[in-house]
Amino acid sequence: MYKLSPSILAADFSNLKEQIQEAELAGADYLHLDVMDGSFVPSISFGMPVIAALRKKSNLVFDVHLMIDEPIRYIEEFAKAGADIICVHAESCKHLNRTIMAIKDCGLKAAVALNPATPLNVLEYVLPELSMVLIMSVNPGFGGQKFIPSTLDKLKQLKKMIDGAGLSIDIEVDGGVTIDNAAEIMDAGANVLVVGTAVFKGDIKKNVKAFKEVFAHAAGGHKDR
Ligand code: DX5
Ligand code: ZN
Repeated sequence: MYKLSPSILAADFSNLKEQIQEAELAGADYLHLDVMDGSFVPSISFGMPVIAALRKKSNLVFDVHLMIDEPIRYIEEFAKAGADIICVHAESCKHLNRTIMAIKDCGLKAAVALNPATPLNVLEYVLPELSMVLIMSVNPGFGGQKFIPSTLDKLKQLKKMIDGAGLSIDIEVDGGVTIDNAAEIMDAGANVLVVGTAVFKGDIKKNVKAFKEVFAHAAGGHKDR
């Protein structure tokens, strides 16, 4: 199944509740929450208190993307704040396996994100533990960047790797996803699309519906899963 995970990084922060509810009502599946610490990535965004506040206002699956150093220090706190999926960067964990286990011990789904320059082989020994892999299609840190084309080949390789291992793991793509490149990204193997700018800048309802139409079109073919 294809899922849309709008990233609130591009939302109007003075109007978050309304904007999230608009996306939810229009058919968004997940809510992508980008946590940045000013160290692993250059920028600082928001943390647990904002997620906990939004949790009370939304029934969406909270897809929490931790762009922070040593996220193992905060897994329990993000679980308490209301995360459903916690995604950590392979590059930011000294002990990736231990971090994944900490997420699962909280009863949450574990995901691992890879920066554009990070090879897929870092996933080799942790893949069976994961519910999702996030392929960064921009260098993390900011919304509104341009999609890096080599991501498409990486997605194809990852899909092969997952299918080859007989696993069922979601493939999420994050950064520079637009209504124009969505179909190509899905063709390459992604089934969870993170979209910030192309959802929250402009008419949220119209934008969400446009992505859902692309999904329906693809699912009507042979690519639903
Ligand atoms: C980048 C973030 C993304 C970002 C996506 O570091 O992880 O989730 O908000 O935004 P767009 O869709 O604007 O590239
Ligand atoms: Zn993200």
